[in-house]
Order: sequence, then structure tokens, then C-alpha cells
Amino acid sequence: MKPSLPKLTELDDEERILDDLNPAPRLLMGPGPINADPRVLRAMSAQLLGQFDPQFRGYMKETMELYRRVFETANRWTLVIDGTARAAIECAMVSLVEPGDRVLVLSFGRFGQLKTEIARRVGADVRVLETGWGTVFRPEQVEDALKSFSPKLVATCQGDTSTSMAQPLAEIGKLCHRYGAMLQVDATATLGGMPLPVDAWQIDCATGGLQKCLGGPSGSAPITIGDQAAAAIYRRRHIEEGLRPKDYVPGEGRIIASNSFDLAMLMDYWSDLALNHHTEATSMLYAARECARIFVKEGRAAVFRRHALAGEAVVAAVEAMGLKVFGDKTHKMPNVTGVHIPAGVSGDRVRQAMLTDFNIEIGTSFGPLHGKVWRIGAMGYNARKDCVLATLGALEAVLAAEGVKLPRGAAVDAALAVYRAAGA
Ligand SMILES: Cc1ncc(COP(=O)(O)O)c(C=O)c1O
Repeated sequence: MKPSLPKLTELDDEERILDDLNPAPRLLMGPGPINADPRVLRAMSAQLLGQFDPQFRGYMKETMELYRRVFETANRWTLVIDGTARAAIECAMVSLVEPGDRVLVLSFGRFGQLKTEIARRVGADVRVLETGWGTVFRPEQVEDALKSFSPKLVATCQGDTSTSMAQPLAEIGKLCHRYGAMLQVDATATLGGMPLPVDAWQIDCATGGLQKCLGGPSGSAPITIGDQAAAAIYRRRHIEEGLRPKDYVPGEGRIIASNSFDLAMLMDYWSDLALNHHTEATSMLYAARECARIFVKEGRAAVFRRHALAGEAVVAAVEAMGLKVFGDKTHKMPNVTGVHIPAGVSGDRVRQAMLTDFNIEIGTSFGPLHGKVWRIGAMGYNARKDCVLATLGALEAVLAAEGVKLPRGAAVDAALAVYRAAGA
């Protein structure tokens, strides 16, 4: 059956198209995006520069250096991709993987499914190792799959936002290399919120986004690429017609099947060669630079502690209300907490009341968890005591109004106790 085109309703009020843009002052406490740090918004309002302006090239270089610190890596090829987080994932996949190459995806939620989807589009021979939503893999499971499948690339999330689980990665890179595979990590949900020492954990390629723990808007995706992966990509270098130097010899590898996401061309663009590619999204580069600058200035340990405390406070409050946290708590990301929706309560009505009465957004869930689990995020600019307390107080009031029997005041008290115990 042919799919029919989706419905597209008309504007209901023609007049409003000329109104000022005036978004509601929401507090975004879902799984991301979150409210951007005002310093990032200010950086984005700075005047534009051309991408070959010496001052702008300086900003690009500084951005590379700042993200080396965010990713804890010495990787030369550390840059940002114009596009949302999936752009960087896709960039890495299409540039590293050739049709027929074996890719093992470690899937523990919806974003594992996304990587499977992207790998299949690239034409890879994909094997998916799955574990139940709410759990993570043990290294032995990964080792067995590496032994039996011999992939070229293993792709996984660090944190899968859909389930709130964080896969321990310290052992996985080493294991991959023992079996001749490279490791690609999607850290969209965790970059800047929990440790991701790319070099120490032998990760060949890691990608992120700004819109979660880094406190920016989506639209720029940091990526870091290790030497082995960079060499594999550069074998496939093909320069666009019109830009080729006289002595140009194309790479011996197969041309990368995307122009926008061709990492070999992006390396030529970000390097001192400064070969033309896309028009850099100037304001997003400013945003990305500012996000990383704020992270580095606050200091890794302090930022991670702030996220961990916010997560502990949310868990303590949820449990104090008599609700249950979703999944394996020992492997939970600090910045997202899944909460089982109590029986008889409409998850959507509660979210709606949070939005209309308190201007606070919390998240719903995908797939098997939809209608069963809410997701409360506390990350980036919003991983703060005041945001956490306001959200939990509001949730308690909304649940009480929905007829849920709970000890009033317990949520905020429990969260506050976590902060007080930490001296925060
Ligand atoms: C773990 C993870 N990977 C990938 C993505 C896709 O990111 P984007 O929507 O920025 O393309 C998300 C988005 O929430 C995510 O949480």
C-alpha cells in the first residue's frame, strides 16, 4: 500500500503571523531540550562573521580546543557539525562505514534504534544486540557479540534518554579494539553531565549535542574522532569539483555517500587548508563555543557534581512521594529520571497541568514506556536546586489535585535534604 501524504492543517489565525515571537517562559525539565544558559543566548546574538574571516577562524580553532577539554581528548579532529545531534551520528556513520561493512549496535532504548536505522541506511550489515529497556549491557555480552560477528564498528549510546540508563563504557573501547572493531559513542544526552574521558576509555568517535547537559539550543553537534578513525575516513577523501587543487589525487576509498556529512571534506574545511564546504552556521558556532567555555570555566568536577546532586534530589523526592523510579537505579543517568506513572493516573493530564498551571515541562516516553513513565530532566542550565525544587513541588501539587494520596510536602523536603546534606 502506498503511504498517503500526511495532513497539514491551515493556520487557524492568519493575523497572528505578524505578531512578535514571544515564547512562554517555560521551565524545561524534560529529557531535553532545556532552557539555554543566558550567556549562550547572548553569544548567539553577536554579529555574524564570514567563515573565512581570520577572527572567525580563530573562534573555530578555540571551539576545537574547548571541546577537546569537554571530551577529555587530545584528538586533533574535534569539531562541531552543523545540525542536531543526529547529524554528528550520521556524519560519523556515513563517513566510517561503507556498504556491506559490519556494524554492531548495542541497543538499550530508542536511540539505539536510531543508530540501527542510520547504519542500515548507510548499507551496513547490521547486528543489533539488545537488552531490556531499563537495563544495560555487561562487558561479557558485548565480548560474545564481538567474537561471533567481528564488526568493523560498534555503535552505542552512553546514556539513552528514552530509558534514562547509562551504559558503563570504561571496558567497552578496550574490548572493541581487542576484536579489531572501532567504537562510536552517542553521548548526546550525557556530554557535559557525566564523565566521558574519550582517550582513557579508548573511544574512536564520540558525538554530542548542545541541548542537554551543555545548556545550549540544539543545532550544533560536537564530534571527536580518534586517529585510526580519522585515517579510515580520510582514505575516502574526495574534493568537490571547482575546489580541487592541480595536484589533486582522490582518496583510494569509496566516496562518502553524503556531501553535507562527508567528514573528510569537513576535515579539509576545519583544517588550515580551509577548503570551502558549507556556510558555517555562525550563531550556532558561537553557541557551541560558549557552551564549552562555560563547562570548562565551571570545571568538570563541579559540573558533574551539580548534575549528580540534581539527579539524587529528584530520585529522593519521587520516592518520598511514594512513586517508583524506572529501571536499574545503579545505572541511571544523573540528568534524567524515569518515574512510573501511578495506576489510574493519566500521564498526559498531569503533564498538561504542569504546563498550564506552572509553566513547567516534563517529558513523556517512547515506545513500550509511553503512557507508563514520565521523564524528569535536570541538566545543563537547569541542573539547579531552584529548578529541581520548583518542579517537584509542582508535581506534588498536580498529583494531589489528581487524587493521588501522597504525604504533602515530602517531595520538596526530601530534595532539599539531599542538597543540605551535600552542603549545597
Ligand atoms: C541519546 C540521544 N541520541 C540522539 C538524539 C537525537 O538528537 P537530535 O534530536 O538533536 O538530533 C537524542 C535526542 O534526544 C538523544 O537523546
